[in-house]
Amino acid sequence: MSETNPKLRAELEGVPAYVPGKPAAAGGPVAYKLSSNENPYPPLPGVMERAIAAAGTFNRYPDMACTGLMNELADRFDVPVTHLATGTGSVGVAQQLLQATSGPGDEVIYAWRSFEAYPIITQISGATSVKVPLTPDEDHDLDAMADAITERTRLIFVCNPNNPTGNAIRRAELERFLDRVPSDVLVVLDEAYREFIRDAEVPDGVEIYRDRPNVAVLRTFSKAYGLAGLRVGFAIAHEPVAAALRKTAVPFGVSQLAQDAAVASLRAEDELLGRVGSLVSERTRVVDALRAQGWTVPETQANFVWLRLGERTMEFAAACEAAGVVVRPFAGEGMRATIGETEANDIFLQAAEAFRKEL
Ligand SMILES: Cc1ncc(COP(=O)(O)O)c(C=O)c1O
Repeated sequence: MSETNPKLRAELEGVPAYVPGKPAAAGGPVAYKLSSNENPYPPLPGVMERAIAAAGTFNRYPDMACTGLMNELADRFDVPVTHLATGTGSVGVAQQLLQATSGPGDEVIYAWRSFEAYPIITQISGATSVKVPLTPDEDHDLDAMADAITERTRLIFVCNPNNPTGNAIRRAELERFLDRVPSDVLVVLDEAYREFIRDAEVPDGVEIYRDRPNVAVLRTFSKAYGLAGLRVGFAIAHEPVAAALRKTAVPFGVSQLAQDAAVASLRAEDELLGRVGSLVSERTRVVDALRAQGWTVPETQANFVWLRLGERTMEFAAACEAAGVVVRPFAGEGMRATIGETEANDIFLQAAEAFRKEL
C-alpha cells in the first residue's frame, strides 16, 4: 500500500496560528491575565443560576434556532428576528460571514494590524486578504481601504474600536467610507467592544445598518457581558445576509448554557453595564497615568490600551510578566494590555513606569 496522506485543501498551508492570550502563570506571587481582553468580573449570580439550570439538561441538544435569545435580541435592538443570526462567539459568526460571501479568487479587505482572526478565517475560506496598513496615528485608513476595492472584493471588515489599538472611527468618516463601497460588497462592522465606547461621535453600527443593506454588525457576549467562556455572539444584518449566516452556522453550535446565560445577561444589563462603567473609569485612570509617564497612548474606546514599542515589545512584555501581569505582545510592533482588576492595572502601571525610566 502506498503511503500517501489524505489530500487537504492547499489554502490551509501557512494559515497563521491564532495566538490566544497567554494565561497568568500559576504559583507566582501575583499573576493577572491582561492578555485576552476578558472581563475581570466573575459571572453575576443570577446569570450563573440560569447557566447551572441549563447545565442540568446537557444530555439534550440545545434549541438550534436559539429562539429565546433571538426574541430577546430582537426586542433589545428593535430589529426583526429575521435580521439576526447567532454563532459560537462573534468569531464564529465572522467565519460564517466569510463562508457566506467569499471563496477562492475573492478578496477580503481589512485594516492591519487588527483582530488577528481576520487573516486566519479569510485564508481558510480560500479568499485573499487585502491588508491596508493603519495610519501613523493607528487609525483605519478608510480612504486607502475604499481605494483597495476591486470587482473581486466581497467583504470588508471594519473593526470599531480596533483591536489591538483601541481607537474608534467616528460617524462622518464612516458614513463617507460606506458611501464609497459598492452595494454588492458586504461591510462588517465588528463591534465586539461597543459597550465600552464613550465618544458620542462614534456611531452605533445598529443605527447605520438600518439604512444600508450591505452592512452587517457583529456583536458579542464575551466582553461587556462577561460570557467569553460560553461562546456566543451574533450578527444584525438584512434578510439575505442574516439568512445566509443561519445556513452557514454549525448546527447546535451555541449551547443551551450560552443561550440561557445570554438571555439572563440581557435582562441584567443595567448591572453588567455598571461594571463596564467601572472598567471605563479604570481605563481613564490607566491612560492618564501612562501619558503622565511619557508614553504615547492612542485614544482607546475599548477595554484595553496599546503601546507601540517596536523592537522593545518582547522585553516590555517580559518585564510585565516578571511584575505579575501577562499582556499581549505583537513582536516588533507593540503590546496590548486589557483593563483588568484595579490591582492588576496598578501592577501594569508600575511595570510601565519602571520600563519607561530605563528607556
Ligand atoms: C474585534 C474582535 N472581534 C471579535 C472577537 C471575538 O470574540 P468572541 O468570539 O469571543 O465573540 C474579538 C475577541 O477578542 C475581537 O477582539
